[in-house]
Parts: sequence; structure tokens; C-alpha cells
Amino acid sequence: MKKRSIENIDVKGKRVFVRVDFNVPLTDAREITDDTRIKTALPTLRLLMENGAKIVCASHLGRPEGKKKNDLTLKPVAQRLAKLLGREVQFPGEIIGKEIDAAKARLKEGEILLLQNLRFHPGETTNDPDFARELAKDIDIYVNDAFAASHRAHASIQAITQFVPLSVAGFLLNKEVEALSMALENPPKNYTVILGGAKVSDKLPLIQNLMQKARKILIGGAMAYSFLKAKGANVGRSEVEENVIPLCKEIIEKAAKKEIKLLLPVDHIASYAIEPEVTIRMIKRGEEIPDEMMGLDIGFETIQLYTQELKDAQLIVWNGPLGVFELETFSAGTIEIARAVASGSAITIVGGGDTTAAINKAGVADHFTHLSTGGGAALEFLAGLKLPGIEALPEE
Ligand code: 3PG
Repeated sequence: MKKRSIENIDVKGKRVFVRVDFNVPLTDAREITDDTRIKTALPTLRLLMENGAKIVCASHLGRPEGKKKNDLTLKPVAQRLAKLLGREVQFPGEIIGKEIDAAKARLKEGEILLLQNLRFHPGETTNDPDFARELAKDIDIYVNDAFAASHRAHASIQAITQFVPLSVAGFLLNKEVEALSMALENPPKNYTVILGGAKVSDKLPLIQNLMQKARKILIGGAMAYSFLKAKGANVGRSEVEENVIPLCKEIIEKAAKKEIKLLLPVDHIASYAIEPEVTIRMIKRGEEIPDEMMGLDIGFETIQLYTQELKDAQLIVWNGPLGVFELETFSAGTIEIARAVASGSAITIVGGGDTTAAINKAGVADHFTHLSTGGGAALEFLAGLKLPGIEALPEE
């Protein structure tokens, strides 16, 4: 499964194209609020610099749909990258064309150039071979270190590999594949999964796959309400995906048949609106969520129940917060479960930016085995799907 790595390859004097995922969260004033994705790409970039490569680095940012959008320029990212590397990062502000050709030709050993947002060009998301050929122009080695974007069959991820002499994986990509593979191939018997977030529909392939492997599945977040409704509970105005309710029923039945413990919240923190200063109500076990209220966090009994269920786990995979953790009022469930997961001895793997943000907020990130930089990519990988960006790379 491990892909041929950039390690042990002679890169001196070679022009190396590094696809990274610098799709970082930004404020309206274009300030980066979390630079984890930039920091996690540094080992590959540093190795290339130290070994005398001429580096052309590229990423997407947001979804500009093939058009140049000033608010999605990679300029702030170039500045942050320069600060983190402690050296200049050239940023000509273009993706392909004469100016980029000249900049590539001028690059000296150890120097780095960041291209403009790849998705400003319509050819990126359509996997256009002509655009990929332009990206690959004068490139000796292609490195994919963008695990978080490797579920996209895009030009800089997939098509480009046809136009370069050598394609390899960066450190981050291989690290992600190695860590997530623990959950995919031969997981231990006591494998527990925590699933949260808004949508069941996003996670259906993952849930189907987990039915073959996990022993316990603990559900929270808005997706719990589709399952609770499928069991006939009154969930008030909680976010429910009506079209997946029959599938939720099937999953509940299948779990029972296979003796998988599929647990749903038994109590809730509910309110009338998703706002910081709102009246809340604890909905205890056996009580119904009133018609005008919605469930926004798991309740205290659920926290205790889930904490207890996590104790014998050897491997825990967690994707999706268990409540609206961005608001203090509805963050206790996610924060307490983060602490419970962190305090055990299980191998712990986390996917998704929101879950990682919650774990950071709980101050326990250091106690986790692997925090994936991938959201959608991690979900697809754990669902057992083939990721185009990974498939395009040669095996070790
Ligand atoms: C992500 O943030 O999950 C990746 O950067 C992929 O972004 P996308 O969902 O816009 O393709």
C-alpha cells in the first residue's frame, strides 16, 4: 500500500513540483486562522530544500470555480509559508504561462516558488490534460503531499502524473496512508468508532464499511437525529435528513444482527436556535425533544455512557463533532469525549478539520496517535474507496 517516497531520491538540481493542500481557513480579512495544513507539509519541503531541489509548490484554496477571485488568492499562504520556513517564497501570482515558465527557469537550488490558487483555472477540477501538461512543463519529479485533496481526480492530483518522468509521495501523504491503514487493514477486535457531524449521507459508505470491522459505533452530532427519528423518537426541529431515514433503519437492524453496539444519545442539550446566548433545556432520558426545539449537543448521561464504552477500546476512530462545539453552550459533549478518548491507551485516529479543531480546543491534541489533515479524503479512505491521487502514484 505504501507509495514510493521522495525520501532516498536524488533531487539535487531537479525541478520538483510539490502538490500540497494549503486549503486553510481564512477570516474575511484573509487572515489564516489555522495553519496546520501548512505546517504538516514542511518536512517534505525542508527535505527538498536541504537536498538542493528547485521547488514549484502548488495548492488549491476554497472553491473559486475556475475564476480568479481575489479573496481566494494564495498570497497570505505564501507569506505564512515563508515565515514558517524562515526563507523567501516566490509568489508571482500566476499558475501557468510565460511568467511562470521564466520563474521556473530562474529557480536556484533550494529555492521555492508557490503558484497561484490552482482552482482559478477551470482545467484543475475537470482534470484537463492540457492544463496538467502545462503544470508539468520542465518538471523532473512530481510529489503528491496533498493527502487531503487526493480524493479529487483533479489535474494537479491525477492527470499531471502522466506528463512527468517520475511521481512519488511526500512524507505527509505516506504518513496519512500508514496511519489510516491501521483502521482499514486488520484493525484490533476492540475497534470503536465515534461518528458525529451534520450529515449521515456523507458517511454512508463509511458506515457500511465499518459494519465489517467495528465492534462499537457511538453516534452524536446532528446525524444522531436521523437515526433517532428512524427509531420513532420525536426529535422536534433537530436537523434530520428525511431521505436517509430508511437507510438508518437498515443500519440499525444490520448492526443488531451482527452484534455491533450502535449507540445513540440518550439525553440532549436542546434549544430554540443555534446562537451563543440562548435558553437551553436538558432533555433527560425518556423525555421527548419539544416540537419547537432542536437537539444541539449530547447530554451528560450520554457523555458518561460513551466514556464508559470507550474504556476497553484498542483502536478509536473519530470523525465529526458531537454537538455544535463552536458555541460554548453546545461544546461540552465534544470536549468531554475528546478528553475521554485522550485519557485511554487506545490507538486514536481522527479525521476532519472540525473534529481536530474540537480536540485542539479541549487541549488534548498531543494525546492522539494521528490527526488526519483530510476531511472528505479521510472519510473516503476509511470507507475503503480508492483515492485517485493515491492510485496515480507507483508502489514502493
Ligand atoms: C478539504 O478541505 O477537504 C480539501 O482541501 C478538499 O477540498 P474540496 O472539498 O473543496 O475539494
